[in-house]
Amino acid sequence: MYPNSRPRRLRANHAIRSLVQEHHLSVNDFVVPLFVVEGTSVREEIESMPGQFRLSIDQLIKEAHEIQNLGLKSILLFTKVSDDLKDNTGKEALNPNGLMQRAIKAVKENCPELYVMTDVALDPFSIYGHDGIVKDGEIENDQTAAVLAQMSVSHAEAGADMVAPSDMMDGRIKIIREALDQAGYINCGILSYSAKYASSYYGPFRDALDSAPSNEANIPSDKKTYQMDFANKREAIREALLDQDEGADILMVKPGLAYLDIVQDLKENVLLPIAVYQVSGEYAMIKAASAKGWIDHDAVVFEQLIAIKRAGASIIASYFAKEVAQWLKDGK
Ligand code: PBG
Repeated sequence: MYPNSRPRRLRANHAIRSLVQEHHLSVNDFVVPLFVVEGTSVREEIESMPGQFRLSIDQLIKEAHEIQNLGLKSILLFTKVSDDLKDNTGKEALNPNGLMQRAIKAVKENCPELYVMTDVALDPFSIYGHDGIVKDGEIENDQTAAVLAQMSVSHAEAGADMVAPSDMMDGRIKIIREALDQAGYINCGILSYSAKYASSYYGPFRDALDSAPSNEANIPSDKKTYQMDFANKREAIREALLDQDEGADILMVKPGLAYLDIVQDLKENVLLPIAVYQVSGEYAMIKAASAKGWIDHDAVVFEQLIAIKRAGASIIASYFAKEVAQWLKDGK
């Protein structure tokens, strides 16, 4: 009888579709990125990221409670420091009483069960907006990695559960792992941005932290000497294997939607959990198009996040995390 196979049977109604659904979203999937600033009662909306805010520490605590009440369990902290604290060595990043260190302590005091991850890179502290120390017009690798290791120890000291180096310097996972272990923080984990591409999707994030690379003469105006070329795929596997060997606990691919082939490749080639960062530009595009009424906001968010899981990620850093957690709570 023609046809002998009818796949549409399994799509006939909601009940059977939900039985055969292969991938699901859960609050357990998400890491919530948060931006911290100095001050009190500051809750300043980021223009290019509607619904996302720069928060002073007191507001961060309020946000942390809300996040926990929604069932979310993990946050990723970024800080925006004032220009007068920036230099070319990232010295403010090591200040035991710096904004990041105080933010970590405050969250851990108020919400001890919330899992705190911290961004480790020099760009928010760099006068040049680069993730490393600039020397003779180049982004110096080994000296930068040494500072990142100290920075990681400083975050662990403040109470961070996991550090997340987002800089793409060579060999930094090894030196961070060694420094954490030597300082006694053997249980502080490392989420490595293993395949971080030199992407144009980071624009709104750089607005949020005022961290775009500067346009000064003799200073590279982009991050292409350390972040990866988006034309490359095999190189991502190489980076991932190195990070796995060097002692990373979780590997991240960034950005998300345009890089799902990379997620699948990593899944097939490494044994560590794979995370995806659905970045600021991806968030901004959905917000902007849906504000114009051109796409259905909630449906597109679900579709993109499920696609990230389908590709093989088990962890998603997403600015939509709170909204999705609310929808899941409401049984949407
Ligand atoms: C920098 C860093 C960036 C992001 C996370 N960490 C920007 C960059 O590399 O320039 C981007 C996140 C986003 O766009 O949401 N270390």
